[in-house]
Amino acid sequence: MKLGFIGAGKVGTTLAKYLAPHHTIIGFTSRSYKSAKEAANFTGSRAFEHFEELIPLCDTVFITVPDGQIELVWNEILASDIDLQDKNIAHCSGALSSDVFAGREERGAFGYSVHPLFAVPSKTETYQELHKSFFAIEGDSGHLAEMVALIADEGNVVQVIDAAEKVRYHAAAVLASNQVIALYQRACDELVRCGFTPENAEKALAPLFLGNAEHVAQDGVIASLTGPAERGDTATIQKHLDCLDGSTREVYSLLNDTLLEIAARKHGSNN
Ligand SMILES: NC(=O)c1ccc[n+]([C@@H]2O[C@H](COP(=O)([O-])OP(=O)(O)OC[C@H]3O[C@@H](n4cnc5c(N)ncnc54)[C@H](OP(=O)(O)O)[C@@H]3O)[C@@H](O)[C@H]2O)c1
Repeated sequence: MKLGFIGAGKVGTTLAKYLAPHHTIIGFTSRSYKSAKEAANFTGSRAFEHFEELIPLCDTVFITVPDGQIELVWNEILASDIDLQDKNIAHCSGALSSDVFAGREERGAFGYSVHPLFAVPSKTETYQELHKSFFAIEGDSGHLAEMVALIADEGNVVQVIDAAEKVRYHAAAVLASNQVIALYQRACDELVRCGFTPENAEKALAPLFLGNAEHVAQDGVIASLTGPAERGDTATIQKHLDCLDGSTREVYSLLNDTLLEIAARKHGSNN
């Protein structure tokens, strides 16, 4: 495929570098020519002053700008008279779907979201780890198979989802990443109530947290489940609920229900 990138940031540069061995990276445009030039140098491609020069040379154009800019950039493309017939227009947002590319059908273009379920903190280093990433792809059926192949042929696992489920998908990702930080904070707050300093509370929980995260990631939720819910120790759970208060008690109770469901699956009963 001939790939172009509008937005020479972390994800645009990383994805181009990652795909470069098996595809033709035409090049980059960006808000600043300097970023486009750096990304072009890094990926062995060209920097363009404007997308009007880049898009005609590409089969697939990734709009790898911040989420709030994707629709604006797309509307600028729509307002131009570039021939978009048969071109794939994609973004990498987790929160937005391909619906953001409104008006694509009239121009003969195909719209996709191609989301790496992965943190991309660096323009120049993360491409070396991108093979570990799961990707979620959704969009028009016309070229969906080739967009899936673009990523799957690199060895990544790809899940095709419906555009209508994109928000749910993103909420799930937030639950497993950002929200865990909130849960960690709640646990630290309780340790502070036990006399820990905030710094010691964070340090104290770290080995427990990391060990558990590794276990879940490697062996799955059922194999990783330990603690009172797994043992069916309702007396201990009740003592925890009696000592906690406010919304932390509610969070504990709600999450405990899910732990009991996992324990039931693990032991094949509703213990
Ligand atoms: N980073 C992650 O961990 C991650 C993970 C998964 C998905 N994503 C998604 O990937 C997309 C890009 O995120 P990112 O982290 O790569 O952002 P980023 O590092 O901030 O890069 C965005 C780039 O877009 C350029 N840009 C901004 N507005 C523009 C405009 N109007 N026209 C042209 N270029 C513009 C900026 O240009 P200049 O440098 O030229 O100023 C910047 O280089 C987002 O949709 C994000 O949700 C990010």
